[in-house]
Amino acid sequence: MGPLSAPPYTLHITWKELLLTASLLIFWNPHTTAQVTIEAQPAKVSEGKDVLLLVHNLPQNLAACIWYKGQIMDLQHYITAYVIDAETIIFGPAYSGRETVYSNASLLIQNVTQKDTGSYTIQIVQRGDKTKGVTGHFTLYLETPKPSISSSNLHPREAVETVILSCDPDTQDVSYRWWINGQSLPISRKLKLSKTNRTLVIFGVTKDTAGPYECEMKNPVSSSCSDPVTLNLLPELPKPYITSNNFNPMENENVVALTCEPKTQNYTYVWVNCPSLPVSPRLKQPGKNRFLILPNVSRNDTGPYECEIRDRVGSMHSDPITLDVLYGPDFPRIFPSFTYYHSGENLYLYCYADSNPPAEYTWTINGKFLQSGQILSIPQITTTHSRRYGCCVRNSVTGRERSTFKTIKVSGKWIASLAIGF
Ligand SMILES: *[C@@H]1O[C@H](CO)[C@@H](O)[C@H](O)[C@H]1NC(C)=O
Ligand SMILES: *[C@@H]1O[C@H](CO)[C@@H](O)[C@H](O)[C@H]1NC(C)=O
Ligand SMILES: *[C@@H]1O[C@H](CO)[C@@H](O)[C@H](O)[C@H]1NC(C)=O
Ligand SMILES: *[C@@H]1O[C@H](CO)[C@@H](O)[C@H](O)[C@H]1NC(C)=O
Ligand SMILES: *[C@@H]1O[C@H](CO)[C@@H](O)[C@H](O)[C@H]1NC(C)=O
Ligand SMILES: *[C@@H]1O[C@H](CO)[C@@H](O)[C@H](O)[C@H]1NC(C)=O
Repeated sequence: MGPLSAPPYTLHITWKELLLTASLLIFWNPHTTAQVTIEAQPAKVSEGKDVLLLVHNLPQNLAACIWYKGQIMDLQHYITAYVIDAETIIFGPAYSGRETVYSNASLLIQNVTQKDTGSYTIQIVQRGDKTKGVTGHFTLYLETPKPSISSSNLHPREAVETVILSCDPDTQDVSYRWWINGQSLPISRKLKLSKTNRTLVIFGVTKDTAGPYECEMKNPVSSSCSDPVTLNLLPELPKPYITSNNFNPMENENVVALTCEPKTQNYTYVWVNCPSLPVSPRLKQPGKNRFLILPNVSRNDTGPYECEIRDRVGSMHSDPITLDVLYGPDFPRIFPSFTYYHSGENLYLYCYADSNPPAEYTWTINGKFLQSGQILSIPQITTTHSRRYGCCVRNSVTGRERSTFKTIKVSGKWIASLAIGF
């Protein structure tokens, strides 16, 4: 009696066979059973290969042998059976199309997959007494593949970022283990393993916890280790600050050079929120923008300046510094613009010149000092107030002074014309 060559990949369960199987199940009394031993050949099998589950110490008077996937012997887990007397192979619901049972009860599984791992049970029925029999259990493990480490972030920012490392692939019936620097993981609040040990969370990664990491996959038949992986830390960005050769330059006189500190090869420099940016033609940007040169500073360059350093993933802003450009006074102007007044009116003159710091104002009359202040006010003027009024502006910081003059004519005809009218 040789092994039947059942056409592979075909299910052909007849009613009769199903009933036979059912009868085998019904009369089974697991408490009276002895055990047979099962051995996998080869002992280590990798995915895609074939494995033979060899049955040793078979009892005499074999009537049938039934293979189940798992440890439960019911119809649902029933893979295949060999009925010796009938020389028949029967397939059950758990048959994948890749299992072949032989007359000596051994089971060949071809092209094994991860799904084939786990336990198998063989039930051997002896001729005569169907309530007696033998069982055997076996757990099939596949050779572990070489794992690899994947990281949520290979360039984490030092001290601030959290990184999750995973040991791939995610496989059942395998235990995972990690090494750092060739040592088992230290107990640390900065390292946290998942329940299965497959993923490792590193909080606020630093030089100490950057690796190299290795992970291992292990099952009872094999173990394999990944290549080491080291996290490439990005150093913490320092907070930049701005220095200047002159924070109070004079308009059209001084060259202002602002510098973004600190100096380093590793960052790019960007100037932001600056009054004369981004398209000022006067802007020179040597040394990757670390210097901002204002060759001929003007009042329009007054204001806050900020610089930023950037690396591949982030940026850091300086505090603003203020450039206070000193200028003026500009040519002064006297308001209102009209020059003809009537006797008895109030003379009210206002002088203004743009200047930083604000100008000091003095008024002169026919070249002689009259008063200081921006406003000149004379009530009830008469013809004697027909004079040349001067407004003199001075900026004590720039040392500049400018003057403007206005000749006021006061006529007495106002009353006369009224008199003529009546
Ligand atoms: C059972 O039969 C198969 C196929 O003929 C053979 O490869 C295997 O060695 C046999 N097993 C035992 C335990 O003899
Ligand atoms: C093995 O299984 C894989 C995936 O199920 C399939 O692609 C491949 O063709 C099979 N190889 C053989 C020799 O049956
Ligand atoms: C995870 O690893 C720890 C020690 O590294 C070990 O004690 C524990 O049993 C492992 N857990 C699992 C589910 O493998
Ligand atoms: C600066 O600018 C002013 C006005 O635009 C100009 O008169 C002066 O010559 C310039 N000075 C220099 C050094 O370029
Ligand atoms: C700049 O980067 C190099 C390598 O990327 C590093 O060795 C060096 O410490 C960094 N310098 C600073 C100031 O961060
Ligand atoms: C300053 O800005 C004003 C308004 O944009 C412009 O009219 C003036 O010419 C600028 N002055 C200088 C010195 O650039």
